[in-house]
Amino acid sequence: MTYRTMPKVELHTHLEGCAPPSFIRGLAAEKSIDISGIFNADGTYAYRDFDHFLKVYEAACTTLQGPQDFYRLVKAVLEESASHGVVYQEAFVSPDFCGGGDVAAWRDYVAAMEAAAAEAEAEFNITLKAIVTCIRHFGPDAAKPTALCAAETFGDFITGFGMAGGELAGRPGDFAYAFDQAREAGMPLTCHAGEWGGPDMVADTLRDLKVQRIGHGINAIKDPALLEQMAEAGTVLEVCPGSNVFLKASGGWAQHPIQRLRDAGVKVTVSTDDPPFFGTTMTHEFEMLAKTFGWGDEDFNDVNQNALAAAFCDDETRTKIAKRLENR
Ligand code: HPA
Ligand code: ZN
Repeated sequence: MTYRTMPKVELHTHLEGCAPPSFIRGLAAEKSIDISGIFNADGTYAYRDFDHFLKVYEAACTTLQGPQDFYRLVKAVLEESASHGVVYQEAFVSPDFCGGGDVAAWRDYVAAMEAAAAEAEAEFNITLKAIVTCIRHFGPDAAKPTALCAAETFGDFITGFGMAGGELAGRPGDFAYAFDQAREAGMPLTCHAGEWGGPDMVADTLRDLKVQRIGHGINAIKDPALLEQMAEAGTVLEVCPGSNVFLKASGGWAQHPIQRLRDAGVKVTVSTDDPPFFGTTMTHEFEMLAKTFGWGDEDFNDVNQNALAAAFCDDETRTKIAKRLENR
């Protein structure tokens, strides 16, 4: 079995961040939107650093203007993921980019994305669940209607709530109202922390937002007591090594803490974050983990099982995906 065909469970992707540049260029051309400035001469996304990346990301999102565009996006993204062996994927979706946080408009976007996911499941044999995220640098007040959108559409397809965006904007506790709203609706929770912030950001996120999973969390490696706490609590990290290396949130692959986090007893999973932005795919992640840390079948099975156990999905889906992992 090749790295490409090995089955993979991926928990941390941003839906719009999975859009191939050619897909975004196509939408821009259809709508006569000039976003040529966000591309390099070779057609890849162009940006200088993480803050600039967020701006380029938002510029790319301006081409996605209605539920039908999101329908097409989901189909394109899942076809690509399935071609890299992904059997189950979770993607962050943002009402802020889909109707501006209005619940009625958001419902139409969710219906379109869910219909596309059902078609993609039949065509490409991949399951998608979506996690509503508020955008941290839009501030705590914007997070409240986003959490309401999440709670109102929580069900078979929208299965969790979280927070993305600029990690250093405010403290986790500033967003407690939105996370409380989602938790009270019964939603499982995740939040980006410890990618740019230190271990204190991870610790505060766990304490103030009571999340089950942390997006990235790599800087927890700097605090042994926190590692012990996370290992004991079973906190799951959505680690995105290729993203970290590309954005320089960590050193190179050899310096990346993913193996040291595992050695400390923390449950880790592997994801791509925004694959075309960071020049990666799940195949590339697996290849680099094998090459850098000597990972083999058992290690890949371990991270897949961690991901499946921590997936924000119903038990029927979990059982179905478990069977696909067994038949690898
Ligand atoms: N990190 C944080 N926020 C984001 C990202 C990311 O990789 N992609 C889109 N929003
Ligand atoms: Zn992310």
